[in-house]
This record gives sequence, C-alpha cells and structure tokens, in this order.
Amino acid sequence: MTRLIRGGRVVTATDAFDADVLIDGESIVAVGTGLSGDEEIDASGCLVLPGLVDNHTHLSMPFGGTWSCDDYTTGTAAAAAGGTTSIVDFCIQYVGGSLKDALAEWHGRADGAAHIDYGFHVAITDARPEVVAEMEQCVADGVSSFKVFMAYKGALMVDDEQFIAVLEQTGKTGGLVMVHCENGDAVVRYQKEALERGDTDPKFHASTRPPEVEGEATSRAIRLAEWTGRPLFVVHVTCEEAVKEIQAARDRGLPIFGETCIQYLYLTVEDLDRPGFEGAKYVCSPPLREAYNQHVLYQALRQGALQGISTDHCPFNFKEQKELGLGDFTKIPNGLPAIEHRLTLLYDRSVRDGHLSIIDVVRHGAWGPARIFGLDKKGALAPGFDADVVVFDPEVKHTISAETHVMNVDYDPFEGWEVQGKPRFVLSRGETVYEDGRIVSEPGRGRFVKRSLFEPAHA
Ligand code: URP
Ligand code: ZN
Ligand code: ZN
Repeated sequence: MTRLIRGGRVVTATDAFDADVLIDGESIVAVGTGLSGDEEIDASGCLVLPGLVDNHTHLSMPFGGTWSCDDYTTGTAAAAAGGTTSIVDFCIQYVGGSLKDALAEWHGRADGAAHIDYGFHVAITDARPEVVAEMEQCVADGVSSFKVFMAYKGALMVDDEQFIAVLEQTGKTGGLVMVHCENGDAVVRYQKEALERGDTDPKFHASTRPPEVEGEATSRAIRLAEWTGRPLFVVHVTCEEAVKEIQAARDRGLPIFGETCIQYLYLTVEDLDRPGFEGAKYVCSPPLREAYNQHVLYQALRQGALQGISTDHCPFNFKEQKELGLGDFTKIPNGLPAIEHRLTLLYDRSVRDGHLSIIDVVRHGAWGPARIFGLDKKGALAPGFDADVVVFDPEVKHTISAETHVMNVDYDPFEGWEVQGKPRFVLSRGETVYEDGRIVSEPGRGRFVKRSLFEPAHA
C-alpha cells in the first residue's frame, strides 16, 4: 500500500520546499509534485520533516543507586510523541562484567517493548584486555560506537590508560568512541570540600563541576584521540571552555565531533538554585551553565564545531529518586527528562527566536546524527530511506506539563512553558505511531537497527 503525505513544506538538511512525500510500505519512494497514493495524509500548513534521531538516551538505566524511570515502552512512546523516530540508547557494561552480557541484558529490555527503532552504544566502564577484545564482535553485531566516561569516579569512570586502550582498539575494528568529558578526580575533590563546608544543596552540584573541569577533560580526550589517530565524538557539550577545545582541534584538521543537548540551550545554572529542593530537578552532568554559554553553543552549531543536538534523556522522579539527595547533593541521581520536547522546543525557542533555521534543526537533529552513528536508512526524506516522517504543525500553541506529557516521570523541567508547534502525525517505517495527541502504535513494533561503521567523510 502507498501513502502520500500531501501539501506540506518538506524540510531537509539543506533545503525547504513545497512537495509531497510518497511512501510504499516501509520506505520513501518519491518526493515531488503530481504524485498520488492509495491513502493520503493531509499536511497542508505543516512542515514535513524526517523523523528525528536521538543518539543519546538512557532508558531503564541503573545509575546513582536507582534506575532511570522511562523504560523502552514509555520512553519510546514519549520520543514518538515528540517527533523522534529512532534512538541510540546507552548499554552499560557492569564493572567486572562483559560487553556480551551487557548487550544481552539491554536487548532483553528492548525486545518487544519499543514503539520506534533503536540501536545501542556500549559504554565501557572496565576496559580489561578481554573486554577490549570483545569490541570487534560488537561492531559485527551492529553496535558500532563505544562510550567512555571521564567522570563518575568509582562507578562508570575509566582512567586514561583504559581510554587509550578503547581508542586503539577502534583503530583495528573500526567504530566511533564517544566521551563524557569532566575530570572525575577534580569533581570528587570539589564535592568533598563542599560537603565539609556544609554546602549540601542542589546548587553545589554546579559549583563542584565548573566549566574548567569540562574544558580540561575535553582537551585531554582530544589529545588522546590525536595520539591514537582516532576520531572522537564529545557528548553533551555545555560550555565555551569545551567548545573552544573542539573548535581548535577541528581547525588543526582533526576528526573531532560533538553534540549539545536541549537542556543546555534553554535552562541555566539558575535553575539549580530554585527554592527548597526544586533545584534537584535540574541536576545533570555536566551541569547547567551560565546563560552566555548558550550563545557559544548556538554559534558552534551554526558554524559546524558541533554536529548534533540530542536530549541525554535520563529521567528520575522527583519523589523518592531525586529525593535520594536530600541533605547531600552528591546523592541526587544525575539526569533530566527531555526526550519528548526536543522538536517543539527547537522550533519554538531556537527557530522562532532566530538562533537556528528549521534546516539546522533537521541537520543537527536527524541527518547529522544518522550519518555519524551509521543509521544508514534514517534521517532523510529521500527515496530509499525509511519512511520515518513527522508532520509538524507550526501554529498550534500548548503548554508543557507533567500532567500531560507522555514521559513516565513525575515532573517536567519545562513545566508551564507556553510553546508553539507540535507533531500532528509521526510515522515510523510508514506506519503511523502518533496522531493528533495520541500514541496509536503497539509496543514491540520498533526494531533493533544494526549500525554501520562511522565514516568521517559522512559527518
Ligand atoms: O546527568 C546525566 N547526563 N546523566 C546521564 C549520564 C550521562 O552522563 O550521560
Ligand atoms: Zn555523560
Ligand atoms: Zn548521557
């Protein structure tokens, strides 16, 4: 059966034009005018975009003594409601464990649960030689990116020796290394000093992880990548200190790539200082920064130092989860819920406010991440690509609230924000998964996607 999305304004990573999109089964077969299909979806007055790709999510992840509270069903439903049709989620190796076991566990969680397509990165937390050797099999199984953490000492952090081992191995097996850049030793020291002073409130999460801590780690990570001759992808870049390092490396011709996340574009360090314990809702790492950094991030996105905007969706309920850190900010689980709001916020706060074009949104939210992370059939509206499509109504006004969001979390960091623009229809491989405010697909239709190897030339 064919479906025609008629009468919208098609947006690609390079262009926007009036055209129809013809879908046959799971694929796009034509974009143009004068087309007809067995069934029509009316897109008049709407933008027609490739479904967004979120390459940075943490669903059902054990972290900070608890678990992120969206699973593969609720998290992917929320993603779809917000116009995201593929995610790449982080599978975490347990210290002492193997990558094989970690991936088996994550497949077990996702199998039969997801509304949209998904892949995995594997986070290596214990790079023993036999674990590093497993990376080859991961690549063969379509898990073509590996993350290391330079922070979270005593939990996820690796030292430089292990980081180098992971980088070197990708020189043999291929694969892209991703890195969380904060100097974990410095953070531990600053946290101890803060607690000794009696500084226990959520706002001290930011002052104990200052931008220099991110800048130093970014610089060191880039050096290690340069020594080993490998490309590197820096996740959740928040500040001028880190952007400068990435830009300088790129100016030297190095294949260094990076992303920021929506929370760093719209929220600031002031949110951590909300009355009472409310600031805990805004604890993520690296922390929210002073507002001037947002201009630096926008410039980096516009000029090409950064290539992606993800969400780092890692939700914890305020009640009982964020509350683990009452009286000690170091015990607040790190992470924010955001998977549902990326397209609407980018449209309302970045495009309508003139910081980015809608073409930039497609480039950084769909096309770029799909190319960098080897999702070969995702991120574009063109013949041969999967029919992952968002029909986005740019006029509809609504208010973000935990009362109405799809995410399975008891608060919303953007509570009360009045915004304009919302998906009307979302299609995944030709099937409608979201329509006029409702998820209409069944959990389990989403498939695991084997990802191809990173090619710097495609980024
Ligand atoms: O605070 C965050 N970002 N939580 C998720 C884990 C990570 O560092 O990406
Ligand atoms: Zn991280
Ligand atoms: Zn993350």
